[in-house]
Amino acid sequence: MFFGFTHCPDVCPTTLFEISEIMRNLGPAADKTAALFISVDPERDTPEAMKDYLSSFDPHIRGLTGDAAGLAAIAKAYRVYYKKVPLEGGDYTMDHTAIVYLMDKDGRFVAPFNMRRTADVAAADLRTRL
Ligand code: NI
Repeated sequence: MFFGFTHCPDVCPTTLFEISEIMRNLGPAADKTAALFISVDPERDTPEAMKDYLSSFDPHIRGLTGDAAGLAAIAKAYRVYYKKVPLEGGDYTMDHTAIVYLMDKDGRFVAPFNMRRTADVAAADLRTRL
């Protein structure tokens, strides 16, 4: 599980690419996992925008978006930090926690997932947990 937003210039696309590589390394075992990308920017991340954005990544990654109140509730539950930061010209970006959360099959938090490993090593770790 990972929190981010589709307009993110660096951390989110990099992390989603890395998760995609891990999924690819998992092979058929990837079907036993559920990777969730949860938007911290529901204002711009409509379900359509999320679907479109995630089409560039592994199909096991599913997007979740909602409204400001829903986001505030889930962010509080997972102690996720996010903040709107205005940019010059009226646009904005989002600061946000960039931890990948490893959950068990009942949806309980296990640990932050170590992404500072190659995709094959990370996939081997995940495989022992399936
Ligand atoms: Ni990001």
